[in-house]
Amino acid sequence: MRQESERSSLNRSELRKVRSTPRAQTSGAVDKTPVIESLKATLSDLYILQLKTQYCHWNVEGPLFFSLHKLFEEQYEEIAEFVDRAAEMIRSLRETSPGSFDEFERLSDLEQMPANKLSANQMIEIMNQDHSNLAVQLKTRWETAEAAEEASAIVLYEDLIEFHEKSAWMIRSHKSS
Ligand SMILES: [Fe+2]
Repeated sequence: MRQESERSSLNRSELRKVRSTPRAQTSGAVDKTPVIESLKATLSDLYILQLKTQYCHWNVEGPLFFSLHKLFEEQYEEIAEFVDRAAEMIRSLRETSPGSFDEFERLSDLEQMPANKLSANQMIEIMNQDHSNLAVQLKTRWETAEAAEEASAIVLYEDLIEFHEKSAWMIRSHKSS
């Protein structure tokens, strides 16, 4: 994972505190480049995560089949909406949105699904880890959006953090201890 995932450990109330802290006065236009780059990375993460979630929806087997099959379907549909939102946000900032698997792979740190057949428990491990890691990583991206005064990106990242945290919980709850 990128370094940004390591240095951020803000929880939701801390995020609100950061948000309500008066910002230093800045002169001139705010540089949007960092937030555009963070949106491209987020879009790439989401696209790869969507494919991984679809892989699980298609291939899961075992006693938890129906529950996991449905859960992964709901999640990849929700991810697809976030994908569109992130891409259109990049366009609204007058940038070209990435749109090829080559680019998504280059811009994301997510691992692709392994080629070998996975058990339901392996899928649970991988997807729980991905959602959990992304929730942490997005807190740093949230700070980037805040610094760039990009309200739409701030809201997107807050919605995504909530989605990833909830998804991780729902996935790992299928694991019996
Ligand atoms: Fe399906």
